Amino acid sequence: MPALGSVLAGSLHSVNHPAMRIYRTPQAMQRAARQWQREDSRIGFVPTMGYLHAGHLSLVEAARKRVGPKGRVVVSIYVNPTQFAPHEDLSTYPRDLPRDLQLCRDAQVDAVFFPTDAVMYPGRESGDYSTYVAEELVSQGLEGVSRPTHFRGVTTIVAKLFNCVLPDVAVFGAKDWQQAAVIRRMSINLNFPVKVIVAPTHRESDGLAMSSRNVYLSPTERPEATVLWRSILWCRRRVKEAGEVPATILSGEVRRLVETESRGRLDYAAFFDGVSLRPVERVTSGTHMALAVFLGKVRLIDNGRL
Ligand code: PAF
Repeated sequence: MPALGSVLAGSLHSVNHPAMRIYRTPQAMQRAARQWQREDSRIGFVPTMGYLHAGHLSLVEAARKRVGPKGRVVVSIYVNPTQFAPHEDLSTYPRDLPRDLQLCRDAQVDAVFFPTDAVMYPGRESGDYSTYVAEELVSQGLEGVSRPTHFRGVTTIVAKLFNCVLPDVAVFGAKDWQQAAVIRRMSINLNFPVKVIVAPTHRESDGLAMSSRNVYLSPTERPEATVLWRSILWCRRRVKEAGEVPATILSGEVRRLVETESRGRLDYAAFFDGVSLRPVERVTSGTHMALAVFLGKVRLIDNGRL
């Protein structure tokens, strides 16, 4: 795991908050949130699946900035089963609750929402859970092609979490660019009274985007994982030099780079408008790119503006 000192130091603030609370049911979380609303405290929310790293803590810091010292910052820790396909890593997803709680305490988080599957999806085991939320436009390309059931799980759980935490502001990481776009759209389309903020990707010193899943990388895979960031830098340079490059040419170059400079396999490299996520044919400065690479058993994603 990355060194956390600087992020932790940056996230401490001077107001003396009462002890961090842990809520385990939607009802208890909603009761607390309603009380904060009565007290006129703004609620900042950072949804996570736990196994926190410095990137998550920077989201906590962004939430604190938005709600101020009198506001309440809530982190949810919940590995959401509905966003994993059957062949994906739900059962092995890394977890370390004691460490997560300590990091949240150190970062002056006011409350952690840590629900069980039974309270989030009552009846799901017996086939009796039947309500899902689906965004049907922005979720279709990119990750939506490789992981066709993923975003329905994400929008469902985030909608449910919003209903529990009642946030004024929710902060998501730019590393999951499409996820943030899908959630922003869902929030607008379903009239959630929440402002969706996207905070910058946190990177290791060699450029690898921080992710809980990086822990899966073997010591030999770990240095090769920088190939995603190197691909983004490559495309940035190409666009800067050429002014405009056809997307098909650039994605071919990225495939070659990934496959010659690592043992990775490119799943996709895509070039699109950063807001609408519509693909572009000609890549210029300001175009957004995203890519996914399989490295051994690990699937890594990254993105950046060119
Ligand atoms: O980005 C994540 O960690 C998850 O997709 C989220 C937003 C917490 C929903 O489970």
